[in-house]
Amino acid sequence: MEDRHGHRISYLRLSITDRCNERCRYCLPEQKQEWLPREGVMTFEEIVRVVRVGASLGVRKLRVTGGEPLVRRGVIGLIRSLHAIPGIDDIGLSTNGTLLAEPDPEDGTGDTTARRLAAAGVRTVNVSLDTLDPAGYALATGRDYLARVLAGLEAARAAGFARIKLNCVLMRGTNDCALAELVDFAHTHGHLLRFIELMPVSRTDVLHEQSFLSTLEARSRLEDRFGPLVPRPDFRTNGPATYFEIPGRQQLIGLIGAMTNLHFCESCNKLRLTCDGKLRPCLGSHLEFDLLGVLRAGATDAQLADFFRDVVDRKPKEHDFRDGYQPQRHMTAIGG
Ligand code: GTP
Ligand code: 5AD
Ligand code: SF4
Repeated sequence: MEDRHGHRISYLRLSITDRCNERCRYCLPEQKQEWLPREGVMTFEEIVRVVRVGASLGVRKLRVTGGEPLVRRGVIGLIRSLHAIPGIDDIGLSTNGTLLAEPDPEDGTGDTTARRLAAAGVRTVNVSLDTLDPAGYALATGRDYLARVLAGLEAARAAGFARIKLNCVLMRGTNDCALAELVDFAHTHGHLLRFIELMPVSRTDVLHEQSFLSTLEARSRLEDRFGPLVPRPDFRTNGPATYFEIPGRQQLIGLIGAMTNLHFCESCNKLRLTCDGKLRPCLGSHLEFDLLGVLRAGATDAQLADFFRDVVDRKPKEHDFRDGYQPQRHMTAIGG
């Protein structure tokens, strides 16, 4: 599928739940307790059907997100079903990492969730990690779970994923002094670290201008410590990060500069499916289309395919984040 701006769509992000066991300051306000009612959330059968239709139209890569995707029961079975869909050749999972080391209580083997995810077909995991300082972590996420995340990363390493990425959302006054330490941690453990600019996708206390730290400023702080970063335009993952090499080390770090990089959307290749079944052509636009509604009203696969094409056709050239965008939903139902 190709839109009218030349974006070729091959990547579908699936938010499978709006629930989460943490409360990141940029994502989910502490007082938020009203989750979507169960009947409003897509069943696994519905998700698999939609992905099958997407795959028939050229979707090749999936990313399973939340909320926290691992709080939804049965996620391993869902991954297995997604992995079996012809055409799907890459499944990633974005997680806060707190549950990766846990065994599944419904599964008698005692295997970690990380190992079961890898066996079910997840190729790569992206783990949120904003700081290595326990107090800072608790401040950023609302929960004192740093040790669990570190155990989760260890379980992920042992599970043998093709790649583990770390996501650090840049927040002035919260983690801006902790960036070099994260770089060293990623180097020691062989993880691919990305620094992400804060985006106005939730109405939370940290989303004001004073908290914003650009990737440009993060880069210059890292250069103070490590020397000039070397651009590596030849290296890309499936998402929007641009990569740089830390001089003297064979270490790459990524910058996701959605707010300041004016070329950010040029290579966009994705659609998003919210956990309540809305197909969104862009994270930073209010456009969303009720795919689940038409599915439950009895649409055929051909009608669902037309729906997909129509949404692709309406994909904007770029996001609206720089134009006083006010979020109408929390990030957690969209999944980043
Ligand atoms: P891969 O490169 O496939 O690993 O995925 P990713 O980096 O896109 O996935 P991840 O869930 O780890 O997201 C990292 C950050 O990038 C999150 O803050 C996302 O919201 C952001 N992001 C990913 N894709 C887009 C996009 O198309 N537009 C915007 N504005 N942000 C995005
Ligand atoms: N701005 C930027 N990135 C965000 N994430 C969550 N909320 C925001 C936000 N407001 C990122 C987290 C998570 C990924 C899926 O989305 O880093 O790892
Ligand atoms: Fe939960 Fe992820 Fe949102 Fe943090 S960013 S509150 S871990 S969904």
